[in-house]
Amino acid sequence: MIKNNLIRSSIIFIALICFIACNNQREKRVINFPETNLAEANMIPKPLKIIPTNSGFALDQFTAIYTSANAADFDHVGRFLAKKIKTKTDLDIPVNVTDIPNLESIIYIKKVDSTKLEGHEAYQLQITQDSIILNAGTAEGAFRGVQTLRQIIPETSTNIIKNKIWIIPSGKIIDSPQYAYRGAMLDVARHFFSVEDVKKYIDVLAYYKYNMLHLHLSDDQGWRIEIKSWPLLTQIGGKTEVGGESGGFFTQKEYKEIVAYAADHHITIVPEIDMPGHTNSASASYPFLNGNGKKAELYEGIEVGFSTFDTRKDSVYTFLDDVIGEIAAITPGPYFHIGGDESHVTNKKDYIYFINKVEKIVQKNNKRVIGWDEIASADVDSNAISQYWSSGENAKLAVDKGMKIILSPAKKAYLDMQYDSLSKHGLHWAAYIPTDTAYVWTPEEYEGIPSENILGIEAPLWSETISNIDELEYLAFPRAIGYAELGWSTKENRDWKNYKIRLANQIAFLNRMNVKYYPSPLIDWKSNN
Ligand code: ACM
Repeated sequence: MIKNNLIRSSIIFIALICFIACNNQREKRVINFPETNLAEANMIPKPLKIIPTNSGFALDQFTAIYTSANAADFDHVGRFLAKKIKTKTDLDIPVNVTDIPNLESIIYIKKVDSTKLEGHEAYQLQITQDSIILNAGTAEGAFRGVQTLRQIIPETSTNIIKNKIWIIPSGKIIDSPQYAYRGAMLDVARHFFSVEDVKKYIDVLAYYKYNMLHLHLSDDQGWRIEIKSWPLLTQIGGKTEVGGESGGFFTQKEYKEIVAYAADHHITIVPEIDMPGHTNSASASYPFLNGNGKKAELYEGIEVGFSTFDTRKDSVYTFLDDVIGEIAAITPGPYFHIGGDESHVTNKKDYIYFINKVEKIVQKNNKRVIGWDEIASADVDSNAISQYWSSGENAKLAVDKGMKIILSPAKKAYLDMQYDSLSKHGLHWAAYIPTDTAYVWTPEEYEGIPSENILGIEAPLWSETISNIDELEYLAFPRAIGYAELGWSTKENRDWKNYKIRLANQIAFLNRMNVKYYPSPLIDWKSNN
């Protein structure tokens, strides 16, 4: 393996030297590039720094991709880029192939000393007339840079020489994210979504540099993940969903397939088992779990706050030890979300006792607890993460405990809120959230939460009113694109007027991906058709 890497490393090095030397000897192809402006390219999220040089790089059939040797994960990123270039331009760009006649330009994805860059997702792009150098310290950084590159390849080719070329504006980009956690959440419990649906969502999220996908895997209306030691959870609790439709669940094999697909897109899966409330489907499957004093029947409505585990029974923790253990074992990411919201029928003392016990189980499985903002009212470690959705008071408690906070304020960041009163899907109990309201707020200063406590932002999509991928996309897009920019770009780099032009220009990508976005009247989509 080491020998192979050394050989490959030498071959690529020789190829690059040849490329430079040959280009010096051979009469260079001369392209009169039209004036470009990299700063006006339609990148979302907006990179940290853009330095245009007003010329161009010709992407065409004489371009090849090379990646640093001794880094198989960089080769993987290079192949991902080639595949996406093929989809966009129909060009077949070779990756790490040395013997290429007529090579005119290269894209080199280079592993560099990561201490020279701002964190593991940082990257730099240097675009000149015959080379694009993408520098990154990690494959993750390289992958984020590849998304930028995909976005600045124009939609149409230009015929200024005999063959088709795609002119990429030249210049330099220096980029790294503002927040380490940039998430979306999908509720597969109220309505179930298939592996294919989740993968399609991941495809679009990755393009906008999301790095977390939180899956809400259980709720009153359904249990969606196979637990081998407690099979009735899915055999009984997985059968229903809101409105009496058909339910469903991920087998562990399917869940692992999602985890692997997400990892390929440098996205971490965050599994959630919501408890002690939101547990009716579990209690309907195993009645000993139930603590609300009534017989738990399968439920297909949309009320909340009526269910609870019996927090004082040891057998409940034996059960949770198995459930959390099985899920943690197939989740490589560092987080386990324990829910903890709206436990209206669990008394306060029992709630605190429960959260404390569950936190220990999660920690035993080497995962870090995330919970909805209510968990800050329990006796949790400072290492636990509070997900702000509604309570400023809970946010203060979290700050006092030294906890990190993920911002998901319902009235700004809930993707299931309707755009306006005419929206086909969604609810409006927190607010109507039109596309501009979703974008024009400042996570950096939200509710006076100190910036050092903010881990990032997440846009949750609850699924009471949506049951298929088209409906999911109607609520998620375009708003999720704006949340990507809020999570990645600095306050100084965000501006609604400029953003809405870049957003309008996403139409070609969204159409190519067959995303059924909501055509917000605030955006001038048609001028880009
Ligand atoms: C929530 O919306 N109940 C977290």
